[in-house]
Amino acid sequence: MQKKLWPAVAIAAAVSAAAHAELPTPGLDFAPLSTVLNAFASAAAHRRAETLVGKMTIDEKLQFIHSEYAMSAVPGGGAGYIQGVPRLGIPDLNMADSSTGSGSTSQASTTFPSTIGLAASWDPALAWNFGKQIAIELRQQGFGMGLGGGTNLAREPRGGRLFEYLGEDPVLAGEMLAERTDGTQSQKVIATIKHYMGNEQEHGRNGGNSQIDERTMRELYLLPFEIAARRAQPGSVMCSYNRVNGTYACENSHILNDVLKNDWKFQGQVQSDWGAAQSTAPAINAGLDEEEDVGSTVYLTPTLVKQAIANGSVSTARLNDMVERKLYVMIRTGVMDDPAKAGPINFAAANAFTQSAEEQSMVLLKNASNQLPLAAGALSRIAVIGGHADAAVLTGGGSGNTRDPVTGAFAGCGGLTFGTSTGCSWWTNPWLKLNTPLVSAIQSLAPQAKVTFSGNSDQQSPFAAYTQQQISDAATLAANSDVAIVVVAQPAGEDFGDLTSLALANPTNQDALVEAVAAANPHTIVVVESGNPVLMPWKDSVSAIVEAWYPGEGGGKAIANVLFGKVNPSGKLPVTFPVRDQDTPTWGTNGAFATNPVYTEKLDMGYRWYDSQNITPMFEFGYGLSYTHFAYSGLSVLHLPGNLIDVSFNVRNDGRVAGAEVPQVYLGVPYQGEPPRRLVGWDKVGLNPGESRRVHMIVTQRMQSVWDTTNSRWQYVPGSSVFVGASSRDIRLQGHS
Ligand code: BGC
Repeated sequence: MQKKLWPAVAIAAAVSAAAHAELPTPGLDFAPLSTVLNAFASAAAHRRAETLVGKMTIDEKLQFIHSEYAMSAVPGGGAGYIQGVPRLGIPDLNMADSSTGSGSTSQASTTFPSTIGLAASWDPALAWNFGKQIAIELRQQGFGMGLGGGTNLAREPRGGRLFEYLGEDPVLAGEMLAERTDGTQSQKVIATIKHYMGNEQEHGRNGGNSQIDERTMRELYLLPFEIAARRAQPGSVMCSYNRVNGTYACENSHILNDVLKNDWKFQGQVQSDWGAAQSTAPAINAGLDEEEDVGSTVYLTPTLVKQAIANGSVSTARLNDMVERKLYVMIRTGVMDDPAKAGPINFAAANAFTQSAEEQSMVLLKNASNQLPLAAGALSRIAVIGGHADAAVLTGGGSGNTRDPVTGAFAGCGGLTFGTSTGCSWWTNPWLKLNTPLVSAIQSLAPQAKVTFSGNSDQQSPFAAYTQQQISDAATLAANSDVAIVVVAQPAGEDFGDLTSLALANPTNQDALVEAVAAANPHTIVVVESGNPVLMPWKDSVSAIVEAWYPGEGGGKAIANVLFGKVNPSGKLPVTFPVRDQDTPTWGTNGAFATNPVYTEKLDMGYRWYDSQNITPMFEFGYGLSYTHFAYSGLSVLHLPGNLIDVSFNVRNDGRVAGAEVPQVYLGVPYQGEPPRRLVGWDKVGLNPGESRRVHMIVTQRMQSVWDTTNSRWQYVPGSSVFVGASSRDIRLQGHS
């Protein structure tokens, strides 16, 4: 049997799990996260699920493979609902979206930072906690299942749902997803990972045909799902709306049966995205276990499935398998014996968590002449300009949003005073009103200074362009201030469509605003709120840039804390920021989107594209500055039995403040078609000034392998080059394996 081998960070996680008495036994590999005891619990759960299925009537079984509530009728404002079987002690199961907090439409929920920001923290422990904190709230709202594990890779940097995902690298995304999943399931909430697979854009969302060769699928687009499925055992995998190589994802036997259930030994269930099932028998036989209904055409209804069983196109054994998978997941996660019950939520604790998560997610992109951190005592006039920084932060739209946020009444535009005629809704235009918006947070950190806001008024549509008057007022204010902080924002979300360009839009003239302010004040700092990379034609004119993503409800305070140095930024980009749209691999002809995208760039996606094409990005994958500086030295690359390599080196904080660095290990695998460098591991190391640490990363055999298409298996490739860097391009040490 092929050994399951995981990247360096997985081993670090396993070792840290060992501190909690869960030491992985050598020989049992490093997966799953919780090891031996879990295997016994799993076997017992299977036996119990099988016994229960044996006692169920056909109608009771059919109720378990189809969530038939119209979304608006799901109790508690959830997205789907499966009724239990009280006579057998099987409870109801209610599920809700949970990308950036509970997506209940009727209950108040905390808004967390977007998950692209979570990926930017490069902190697996934070991802675990993120999953846990959202699950605590889901459970208290009565939900036993959270649909928040989005992890499609950022192949299309303009993708409308990028904020819900974990960036462009499969290992980073997979590790963070595994941790998030495990954190969620630690709270007796079933975690769903999605959208499986090839769903990298919103164009052609329903039925668009993603054409991806097998090696590219295995090495890139399947890999985050594989890491999470094997290591964290999510209860559910959601198949997507699109087709993969001609066949709908929810009836694609290759990705569901061959890969997920056979190769990866996935024991949970496959649920459809809402309305994504396209057939009865073909879908069931291809591996779909549960259909989620949106009230239009449905295929796994009791009537249709009974017919399929009667005519022999679906076997009773397969129906039993579908139900058993669901029951198994409910038993193993604890949902069966301790179902979620509504209860009081500690919103203050959740709010504090969102702030600290955001503080670890922000990425300092530019800091000329140490513009940041700001010294409060030296400033008497601070201008804060644009982005509704006096009231709100932007969040992502669609099902990945919280729809009834705690902070501010969610009246159309997050409680801002925009008129309803602007068409605001949580779906397309989700401004989140903050109790402590950026302006007040800055004022409280600089009490002696006069903090003045200028910019778009809340009476105009949030999408309306800045007027010439607003731009010149902002420039005048900036000219009369010691420092100018400009906030720019890039709305995006599901169904909002993909962005047409990475240039700032909505309002379209934010670039002109930044240019005008920068011309008026040499101390101009730009704070970006986005879920995607953003083009920055003004990059050279401003003194500092901070990427804050969609910062969630702790955002105002978190951003202020970074600007004033209460927090030393430690985030690194999980996506490449290009200089121009034309540099991205999917731009095609004049930026037209393909409805049926062909993944012609193969393995050269994300930073691998820029490296292989020799295109210099504006800010590369893995990049991020700090208020201190880190020196790297002493690389050693040792071979261990089993084709493991131990990469070790020193990282020293040689600046004057404490900070955290994310040293990254990349391999150049000497094999046709491989990119110049691919990420295989990283660490996040907190160091005091002058402190040094020797970092060890074990690179597994699997991370040195390529997918051998001829023999359908992983092939180990010896002799990789080893790169240790502070980013994918800032390579500090180099060696050979
Ligand atoms: C989205 C899913 C989501 C589901 C339920 C669909 O439109 O694609 O991500 O979980 O709706 O809200």
